[in-house]
Amino acid sequence: MKRRLWSIREHGFVPDKQLHHETIFTIGNGYLGTRGSFEEGFEGDTPATLLHGIYDHAPNVLVPELVNIPNWLPIGITVDGTPFKLITKTTDTLRPPHGYVLGYERELHLDEAVLRREILFRAASGNIVRLIFDRIASLDNPHILAQRVRVIAVDGNPTVELTAALDGQVTNAGVAHWLPNMHVQAAGNTIGLEATTQQSGYIVGLASTLLCASPVTASLTDNLRPTLSTSVKLQQEQEAVFDKITCIYSSRDVDAPLQAAAENLANAAQLGYDALYKAHVREWAQYWDRSDITIEGDDACQVAIRFTTYHVLITAPRTDENVSIGAKTLSGLGYKGHVFWDTELFALPPMTLTQPHLARNLLMYRYHRLSGARHKAKANGYEGAMFPWESTDTGEETTPQWSDPEPDGTRIRIWTGDSEQHISTDVAYGAWQYWQWTGDNEFLARYGAELILDTAVFWGSRVEEKNERYEISQQIGPDEYHENIDNSVFTNRMVVWHLETALHLLDWLRANATTDYERLVNELDLSDTRLNRWRDIITRMYIPFDETKQIHVQFPGFFDMEYIPVPNYQPRTTSVQAILGHSRSIQTQVIKQADVVMLMALLGEQLAPLDVLRNNWDTYYPRTDHGSSLSPATHAWVGARLGLMDEAYDMFYHAAHIDLEDNKGNVKDGIHAAACGGVFQAVLFGFCGLHIREDGTLAIDARLPEHWRRVRFSVNYRGQRYTFDVQNPVLVSPMA
Ligand code: BGC
Repeated sequence: MKRRLWSIREHGFVPDKQLHHETIFTIGNGYLGTRGSFEEGFEGDTPATLLHGIYDHAPNVLVPELVNIPNWLPIGITVDGTPFKLITKTTDTLRPPHGYVLGYERELHLDEAVLRREILFRAASGNIVRLIFDRIASLDNPHILAQRVRVIAVDGNPTVELTAALDGQVTNAGVAHWLPNMHVQAAGNTIGLEATTQQSGYIVGLASTLLCASPVTASLTDNLRPTLSTSVKLQQEQEAVFDKITCIYSSRDVDAPLQAAAENLANAAQLGYDALYKAHVREWAQYWDRSDITIEGDDACQVAIRFTTYHVLITAPRTDENVSIGAKTLSGLGYKGHVFWDTELFALPPMTLTQPHLARNLLMYRYHRLSGARHKAKANGYEGAMFPWESTDTGEETTPQWSDPEPDGTRIRIWTGDSEQHISTDVAYGAWQYWQWTGDNEFLARYGAELILDTAVFWGSRVEEKNERYEISQQIGPDEYHENIDNSVFTNRMVVWHLETALHLLDWLRANATTDYERLVNELDLSDTRLNRWRDIITRMYIPFDETKQIHVQFPGFFDMEYIPVPNYQPRTTSVQAILGHSRSIQTQVIKQADVVMLMALLGEQLAPLDVLRNNWDTYYPRTDHGSSLSPATHAWVGARLGLMDEAYDMFYHAAHIDLEDNKGNVKDGIHAAACGGVFQAVLFGFCGLHIREDGTLAIDARLPEHWRRVRFSVNYRGQRYTFDVQNPVLVSPMA
């Protein structure tokens, strides 16, 4: 295994990039995610650990958000009394009492999911030490976090003092979510902290211990920061090893989180760091065995796709059916940890194809939130289930109605929670796709069918019969620059797909799962009248199409607006919308992200013959500014299907590097989950053309970028593993 193709590196310390790097160096295990902030802290840093499902709604904040839990990272080191710290040039005196960092490297090893940092540090005394920090979020026991610090005396005989703490003084960028009266404890070589969220009442408990050869004392001098301390005198070339093991539970797991954390910690401490590490790596080997994609001939994209896969894997809940993947994973506070369509149409498919048990958890999250979706439908005067555009723990709509105020106090009304209704169909699409790939009949009959059918009931009540056809007014399609438009072609056409699928599903249920069929027909009132209406909608739904140009029309009136040649706006680091301003751009043909192109990705030639698809591409590609990270990967996928290899590769490279290169400038807020999942789809469905034939067999129809020599991957199809080896010039050898 070439190690460099399995790691992300930072050579030398660049203070300006730290917030970006905190995000990309996040570790996690499907239970929690911890940003790559330093153990010793750094001026302006944004450390955060996010636990799936722990939301809280603070006063004066419009909506609930995922809560930053107390920080388990702090480890402070002094060498001969000089505190080790990375300092920016402005505060750097390079003289006592400051030490001097002679060298710095950081590396995220994707294969073993360990974050390592190595530093050569000279204390004010002149003694030099090498510091090596490792950290893991155990994939074997998701409640366990382990840090190892090695201090090696390189020159001189330094005295090293080390403190390991838990820090309860945390906020979400200044917003307090924890009740101030936290419970803290310190005894022997163990510390603990228990905290409760203000509004939602979730409790988290953390316990840490420090394992090392020197004696450890525990103290509570600082109220919200229980601390363990030790010190050691090293001889030249001697090494000291300090292992900090932390355990976390929440009231979502157990009744008494701190007690559970302390008990579990005792077992973990007995096993010790090496055994914990080994078990963690063993689990990761299994993850990678199923989910790795190898690309030969393109090292940059090889590393990037491992990086994007890693980030989907560290955020996908392993055992919990009541949480899902937020738009920014568990790596940052962006979008407040809310769950969007990004999950079902982008992050879910890699799980469906390679880790179906994780995909099932994500779909069960929606199933358990059907009551929120029914509530939203009812509140809006509709029947059935209408999923919220943004979802949290409750399943109620949590999209904020207003943006954060601009410096001049103005705020923009956010309409997506009202009008971006295609989310209900996106959930159904994800459930149907899961069933097609896994053949998990039990899931479909007991849970998936209800998701697909009750959202179909919603659409049946939502569409409007007018102008001798069916229409849907007041929508936002994937292109969010155009709000509250009538007859979004994406939405209308996907609703047709949805109702067709629902009818097909009913036939399947009647034949294969009679009890569930009867249950659902009764509970959801799937009367003949209702089903006939669905059939009528399918045949008479208005699908905006220009017969002369042979293109789908994004929505009627779209081409009457000002045309802006988006390709001329290069080079740029921001969206064309940001350049033109909100009020002007909404009156132009600038498109935020794949919209008709997204429809093409989802339906392929079911939508239209290839020449129409190509016309659509020629029309919409030059109008799209990719203001959303969901866009480039979708274009790569569709571009590859159309044989437009240059455009497809450009889009793919861009998508695969959105987070690594921070080419949207907002990675400090978190990883773009959808881009990560989109990259996977671009390779498998786009470049490799993986699909299920009508006869139910799997097939490849590959069009690889010229310089790619070979792509290999495995998928799980109906309970069996298939490995594909696609070579360029295209030669495929599928092995069951
Ligand atoms: C995109 C949406 C996406 C959301 C969260 C928005 O900018 O337009 O499609 O769901 O971000 O990633």
